[in-house]
Amino acid sequence: MADATELLDSGERLDPETLRALQLERLRKSLRHAYDNVPFYRHAFDKAGVRPDDCRSLADLSRFPFTTKADLRENYPYGMFAVPQDRIRRIHASSGTTGRPTVVGYTDADLSLWSDMVARSIRAAGGRPGDKVHVAYGYGLFTGGLGAHYGAERLGCTVIPASGGMTARQVQLIQDLEPEIIMVTPSYMLTILDEFERQGVDPRGTSLRVGIFGAEPWTEQMRREIEERFAIDAVDIYGLSEVIGPGVAQECVEAKDGLHVWEDHFFPEIVDPISGEVLPDGAEGELVFTSLTKEAMPVVRYRTRDLTRLLPGTARVFRRMEKVTGRSDDMVILRGVNLFPTQIEEIVLRTPGVAPHFQLRLTREGRLDALTVRAEARPDASPETRDAAARAITAAVKDGIGVSVAVEIVEPESLERSVGKIRRIVDLRPSQGRRP
Ligand code: DLL
Repeated sequence: MADATELLDSGERLDPETLRALQLERLRKSLRHAYDNVPFYRHAFDKAGVRPDDCRSLADLSRFPFTTKADLRENYPYGMFAVPQDRIRRIHASSGTTGRPTVVGYTDADLSLWSDMVARSIRAAGGRPGDKVHVAYGYGLFTGGLGAHYGAERLGCTVIPASGGMTARQVQLIQDLEPEIIMVTPSYMLTILDEFERQGVDPRGTSLRVGIFGAEPWTEQMRREIEERFAIDAVDIYGLSEVIGPGVAQECVEAKDGLHVWEDHFFPEIVDPISGEVLPDGAEGELVFTSLTKEAMPVVRYRTRDLTRLLPGTARVFRRMEKVTGRSDDMVILRGVNLFPTQIEEIVLRTPGVAPHFQLRLTREGRLDALTVRAEARPDASPETRDAAARAITAAVKDGIGVSVAVEIVEPESLERSVGKIRRIVDLRPSQGRRP
């Protein structure tokens, strides 16, 4: 492989001072664009008593108001757009868990930027022109499929637009068309793994070299499981529709030590989820993004609800974000203890005798919430191994997270499989309405 640094694009080669100056220049322009063209931002800035010109340094951004998912919903469908409709070339939408979807729009330039950012991401993941990329993210209003597709084409790869579902066919396509790269949610990769095994095909024997996994939280334990079972490198890609889609941040295959945020276009902040106060790099909190160059739908201080930390850059000047712990909406509060599905994933995946498939069931017992971890036995696990696994998971949750949960080891293949983003939490509490 060529020296990876030779392949960086001009944005990735910026030195720190030039990057900060470029960010400030772009930020000021983007704030002005939002203020002049989106009534929502004009009102919000006026109400907060700030004008775009008040942003004289990157730190001044903290004086500007946040934007939330609720703001986007209230302006459904087109109220957040900053350009006339005839300049909108594409619409995507994210379904969300309740109520109206969020609609996002792209101009020609936005689509081009998005392709560039995904191309940069695939290259950081080890992809090269000429590689064949199997895209098993869903195509459609979800940004995963089309985002990956155009990015791979931009890099000069051959795209296999498989989309999600029809898992038996995924296995056949991988065997017959011999892709080097797969882009898919990590949970769907596990479903594909099951199918390889069902067909008696060795998943370690494919042409695949790299998997680029995102759209949902996943852990180091999951990385190890997938890398080992498929004999590939597994790297993390992050993004969200409101900011652009996949390709906001990407882990590089050489280091696998967090995701470089493409901050020449998407400016990150970490804030305290309760107070909204900006936290210094290194502190854990909620990730907030301001777009620096988007035309159709600029976002100012968009609250992602994703929890992570910002870390210094390494091979590139861009800061990294740690793997996302979870969304604040997926946090379960159990007798005063905060718990994320990723914490359970770490425990389940290191427990012998259980498969990497689990589900969290929330119920109410009297006035208290209760959580049952349902994890699937490996087909070869004896009754004793299953009992030991249940005890080990119970103890690890109690010791590591500090709360008591029930654990059920269920039959192999009995839990619902993912074909896209997995739903870990099944909320059976009466009239919660959190997760319909
Ligand atoms: O999931 C965009 C995407 C597609 C990213 C394919 C990566 C790969 P949305 O449907 O709008 O967009 O959902 C965005 O998904 O706020 C996170 O909560 C979660 N998410 C996305 N990537 C990751 C990741 C796409 N790598 C929401 N790790 C985000 C953890 C992720 N969570």
